[in-house]
Amino acid sequence: MKIETVGVLGCGLMGAGIAEVCARSGYQTVVREIDQETLDKGLGRIHKSMDKAVAKGKMEESARDEAAGRLTGTTDLADLADCDLVIEAIIENVKIKKETFAKLDEVVGDDAIFASNTSSLTITELAMATERPDRFVGLHFFNPVPVMKLVEVVRTIVTGDDAFDTAYEFCESIGKQPIACRDNSGFIVNRLLVPYLLDAIRAHEEGVGSVEDIDKGMQLGTGYPMGPFTLLDFVGLDTTLYIAEIMFDEYREKRFAPPPLLKQMVQAGRLGRKSGRGFYDYSKK
Ligand code: CAA
Repeated sequence: MKIETVGVLGCGLMGAGIAEVCARSGYQTVVREIDQETLDKGLGRIHKSMDKAVAKGKMEESARDEAAGRLTGTTDLADLADCDLVIEAIIENVKIKKETFAKLDEVVGDDAIFASNTSSLTITELAMATERPDRFVGLHFFNPVPVMKLVEVVRTIVTGDDAFDTAYEFCESIGKQPIACRDNSGFIVNRLLVPYLLDAIRAHEEGVGSVEDIDKGMQLGTGYPMGPFTLLDFVGLDTTLYIAEIMFDEYREKRFAPPPLLKQMVQAGRLGRKSGRGFYDYSKK
């Protein structure tokens, strides 16, 4: 099957990144948001990112204009009717995702592939909300999407080979490096990353080291681009808490249990970079 038109549901941080990469890679891209204001904000994010790439000399002006020409925004699901692949990157709420996929199922052609960018929910549950569970995969991108090379391509026990292979090849065609994952909560990366991030918080709570020293230790000692606290602030503490809760619920293992400090930080509104303060203070930068 040939992918020509890609639909992206959601134009937040992840959706905007995915739509940008698709449009830049030559795909007609239709991105859908729930209202005009959110859509305008999301499209603005994409244009700003491409302008930055041009300013840095990483992209030709003509390539930016061509990519912008391939990008359409909409608030109407019906405008995704002609998509060959739809990638969902909306709020991490299973009920809303299932309802959205069920509606989409009635609009988009039977051959089209559906994908979810969920980081922790199981793909099987989402796939079963549609009439095409055999044409449903997980495509888990990483933040910042234009920079991070990895995509986890997730197959469930009902995913067909054709849909999986097409999705895998699609990732290669947008310059990403796919890896194949089974549909277990957290897939490969978050299954390893989340316990590591939670453990860094526990180490700090137990007085092993300061936030700065733990970060420095992992950055300089193991070559991570960001230490765990910088990464927690980057991902968002609310997002991390949410993912950890889902994984703990799924596996019932202590290593996925969110530590009290993480919960308290979220309760106090210290969500990381996006709120101006997390483990570090960003208000003055
Ligand atoms: N969009 C586009 N480009 C971006 C960008 C963005 N949001 N952020 C950074 N870049 C580009 C910069 O333009 C720069 O490119 P050039 O070198 O070509 O100029 C390059 O990335 C490096 O950026 P900086 O020099 O500003 O900063 P850096 O060297 O510290 O790199 C980083 C920034 C790429 C974010 C790096 O720190 C990094 O890799 N951090 C780890 C990120 C990570 O682990 N992400 C995964 C999070 S987990 C997740 O997403 C999954 C989940 O389910 C929770």
